[in-house]
Amino acid sequence: MGEVRNFRVWRGDADGGQLEDFQVEVNDGEVVLDIIHRLQATQAPDLAVRWNCKAGKCGSCSMEINGKPRLGCMTRMSTFEATETVTVTPLRTFPVIRDLVTDVSFNYQKARELPAFAPPAGVAPGEYRMQQVDVERSQEFRKCIECFLCQNVCHVVRDHEENKKAFSGPRFFIRAAELDMHPLDARTDRKDLAVEEQGIGYCNITKCCTEVCPEHIKITDNAIIPMKERAVDRRYDPIAWLGSKIFHR
Ligand code: SF4
Ligand code: F3S
Ligand code: FES
Repeated sequence: MGEVRNFRVWRGDADGGQLEDFQVEVNDGEVVLDIIHRLQATQAPDLAVRWNCKAGKCGSCSMEINGKPRLGCMTRMSTFEATETVTVTPLRTFPVIRDLVTDVSFNYQKARELPAFAPPAGVAPGEYRMQQVDVERSQEFRKCIECFLCQNVCHVVRDHEENKKAFSGPRFFIRAAELDMHPLDARTDRKDLAVEEQGIGYCNITKCCTEVCPEHIKITDNAIIPMKERAVDRRYDPIAWLGSKIFHR
């Protein structure tokens, strides 16, 4: 038998809601998602939460815990003082569907807008070859579990619905950087797209995205800053500019 702790959960839907207080049993080693499941089993059977793997790998259980974007399944209750009330709210940047479940389709839209990997002409799938060093260069970015915590925390869109149209967000800057580093990607305009279509210029390098990433991807240092620098190089390098005009025809 564990101890009884104070737990607070936002309940509601698109029309509004409120925080609801619970007293709930917490055992050693349990994570926030365990507590939400206990509430569903004992006190709030209709409490909505999205989850799947309970192992930090599916990216479904993103929520805000004491105001910080986190994965519910990877946040141990022992992180908090026993006397502290743990408050769980839905991601703020996306519209609420119900309780802790938000509509993250903004991210799917941004994924669709990013041109896919473009293989070189005349090379069939299965025949692509690349050096291990090139594989390793973008390995870090492929660890992304699409939890969208970085998208949720970025101030460019967090309280600015009006910026969403023009800004893809950190998750899609790492995708663009990954493709830009890919030796077999035939597109040469990833940097220009990052500026012109993805709105990378809105990012002022606050690094909040990097801080919340559960996969510890160095989003700002390894993807955003290099993409910004390379875009600037291209814009101010007359040879690169001329090359892009000639070879893009
Ligand atoms: Fe989540 Fe990190 Fe991927 Fe962003 S980059 S969606 S924080 S895993
Ligand atoms: Fe946003 Fe990350 Fe830039 S939080 S402002 S995308 S460094
Ligand atoms: Fe899959 Fe938390 S349930 S990451």
